[in-house]
Amino acid sequence: MSESMRALVAGGVGEPLDVLRLESRPVPVPEAGQALVRVRATPVHASDLHVLRGRYGFAPGFPTVGGHMECVGRIEALGPGVEGLEIGERVVVVAIPAVPGPRVAGTWQEYLVADTSRLLPVPDGLSDSSAAQLAVNPLTALLLVSRELDVRPGEWLLQTAAGSTVGRLVVQLARHLGVPTINVVRRRDAVEEIKALGGDEVICTQDEDLVRRVAEIAGPAGVRKAVDCVAGQVGAQVSQVLAPGGELVVYGALSTHRQTDPAALTIPLPARSLIYETKTVRGFWLNRWFGTASPADALSALSEVRDLVADDVLSIPRGEPFPLERFADAVAFAEAPAHGAKPLLVFDDDRDGGDT
Ligand SMILES: NC(=O)c1ccc[n+]([C@@H]2O[C@H](COP(=O)([O-])OP(=O)(O)OC[C@H]3O[C@@H](n4cnc5c(N)ncnc54)[C@H](OP(=O)(O)O)[C@@H]3O)[C@@H](O)[C@H]2O)c1
Repeated sequence: MSESMRALVAGGVGEPLDVLRLESRPVPVPEAGQALVRVRATPVHASDLHVLRGRYGFAPGFPTVGGHMECVGRIEALGPGVEGLEIGERVVVVAIPAVPGPRVAGTWQEYLVADTSRLLPVPDGLSDSSAAQLAVNPLTALLLVSRELDVRPGEWLLQTAAGSTVGRLVVQLARHLGVPTINVVRRRDAVEEIKALGGDEVICTQDEDLVRRVAEIAGPAGVRKAVDCVAGQVGAQVSQVLAPGGELVVYGALSTHRQTDPAALTIPLPARSLIYETKTVRGFWLNRWFGTASPADALSALSEVRDLVADDVLSIPRGEPFPLERFADAVAFAEAPAHGAKPLLVFDDDRDGGDT
């Protein structure tokens, strides 16, 4: 093992390409209860960029290695007293800060140490691309549909940004559970893709009126459950179309992604509809969920999602691999319209970000 490694480090808060630099750092040494993981692939999530821009729900100390969510890698060494894991085993590292135990110092580096409670062994059949994206978006989709809203078979579920990674997973999971979906996208090109995935209805805001179309589709009974990751006017419209007593869970703010002014991150909710139709609008944040779930519940939800992916019930869009030194392209790709796949920073010869 070499004694130094490459790490993608942000010197402070700012535009990602202004603050990120490749640095050489010593390979860390695992302590008791920890493993040293050689990273194979790690995504560039919108939330990772929010952290750098200083607009996320937590702030690391700077300088910080980027990537605060997840990665897949192989165990390179084990600290004293670790049992039940093998050197060479492939694992997902759940780096999300609120997971109990010591924090992971960023996933955008060649090696990292993590408490073994943050590691989830990966079956051979699961590609690195899927494993590297397992802990955030598929788990979010599962929790939104099955726990936050508890949508019942036959009951409409309305969602925005259906073409996002989370949105596609929600479509597939809902299909699996017998839940019909109304899916909102902003590009006509995306409509057929969502239908092919199993989306029952698709509304394209490029040329359709969201409020009118939902009323046409759902009829007098309306829609009682919705998830939104666009916020702004779109989120407000979703709250407006909910049936009386309906629930909306807001989990993202894509319409304001490059904003860093907190005052710009808003949803202008129509108060009459909210009050007189007694609707509920609330937030969801996976980080907070990890901070409040019991370790057993977190492990059970993660294992459930891993099995749904391994059994092909959920298919995670294949990531677009970028060697670490091409991080600028990966960041640009993450924010390009119609990017489809998730950028994955990959290491060494594993540049397809795919099969193991
Ligand atoms: N709260 C949580 O715990 C949690 C967990 C996971 C994800 N998230 C959030 O969920 C959202 C989706 O994440 P992801 O990783 O699935 O995203 P992603 O794969 O990068 O996809 C982004 C999608 O958003 C669409 N989009 C971008 N800007 C939009 C706008 N202004 N209006 C409507 N649609 C827009 C894009 O449409 P085009 O294809 O037309 O470009 C694309 O389909 C993000 O906001 C993320 O931060 C939150």
